[in-house]
Amino acid sequence: MEDLAAILAGLYGRSMLTTHDWTTAEIDALLAIAARFERLDRAGVRAHLLPDELAYAMFFDNSTRTKSAWAGAAARLGMHPVIVDGASTQVAHGETAAETGAMLGMNAHALGVRHDLILGEGNAFMRDVLTGITDHLAASGDKRVVPVVNLQCDVDHPTQSLADLAWLRQHFGGDVRGRRITVSWAYSPSYAKPLSVPQGVVSLLARYGTDVTLAHPPGYELSPEPLQWAGEGAASSGGSLRVTDDMDDAFANAEAVYPKSWGPMELMRERVAANRAGDTAALKDVERRALAHNAQHRDWICDERRMGLTADALYLHCLPADIGAEVSSAVMQRFRTAVAAEANKKVYVIMALLAVAKVADLPERLAALETGG
Ligand code: CP
Repeated sequence: MEDLAAILAGLYGRSMLTTHDWTTAEIDALLAIAARFERLDRAGVRAHLLPDELAYAMFFDNSTRTKSAWAGAAARLGMHPVIVDGASTQVAHGETAAETGAMLGMNAHALGVRHDLILGEGNAFMRDVLTGITDHLAASGDKRVVPVVNLQCDVDHPTQSLADLAWLRQHFGGDVRGRRITVSWAYSPSYAKPLSVPQGVVSLLARYGTDVTLAHPPGYELSPEPLQWAGEGAASSGGSLRVTDDMDDAFANAEAVYPKSWGPMELMRERVAANRAGDTAALKDVERRALAHNAQHRDWICDERRMGLTADALYLHCLPADIGAEVSSAVMQRFRTAVAAEANKKVYVIMALLAVAKVADLPERLAALETGG
């Protein structure tokens, strides 16, 4: 790794909007910091590096893990976490993302956003929020650093994919290079889920020399841009990316499998138009048809038969999983502790994102905590 201190100096003030915006060396440095926070936390060492600061987050969609990871990370750093429902803000009454960013940036010291359901909107919203914060701070001569952390958008779910990478590295003894990892669509009857988890996981893992297989039925293609990132990442890292519409083929000899559902592309595009028109009846109809589409592929389940095709693969899921649809009860039961350990990485990833962006002397401060100083 390049000099860690130099990389961290470059990350001061940095937001996380997609992992693609960060170099591989920067991601390695971030995960090294996350691992140090995890060791300190497990040793019971308090890491109050940002006392009395406000860590504000807006969620425009449901969440259990990411909300609590945000709150847990902020509390461990000595910050005050506040989480609000995005629908309860004035965004619902037409306040723009840049205005919202300026207003939140003048009060908060870090901002998390989840905005993941509408293709083409969530990541653009976060970038406009960041512009609003940056412009406000510059115009008012305020030297505070207020990073924006993407807590899932339409393109990427970086705190999830980074937690997954950290978990996979731990499982594989430190390095994922050369590992055969399958990301597969799986059947869900519950709702048409965002595309950002598979997009984020595939595009990140491909940069690390893994052999990634992406599997989905026809009609469940991912967005072109993250797929392009994945192809470029595989080419530059010596890994590979292949796409199949056969779940058995995707599981054959895999060393890790990540089967989860997402919505059909054509209907996700229809949802954009219905949302722009504010047509709630059309939105409901899109959802109904997406679930009917999903129901044509009920056999796309991760069960013990399919796990038997793998090379004793690790099962991953971002959770929540539809048990009995995406995954059989037996497989979920067997990997219950593993998926909890995977989820637990997120709190340390968020701690690292907040600390690298906001603590100018992070190497010295961490070293002092590690040596009891
Ligand atoms: N995996 C994940 O993001 O979980 P939540 O939706 O509960 O935050």
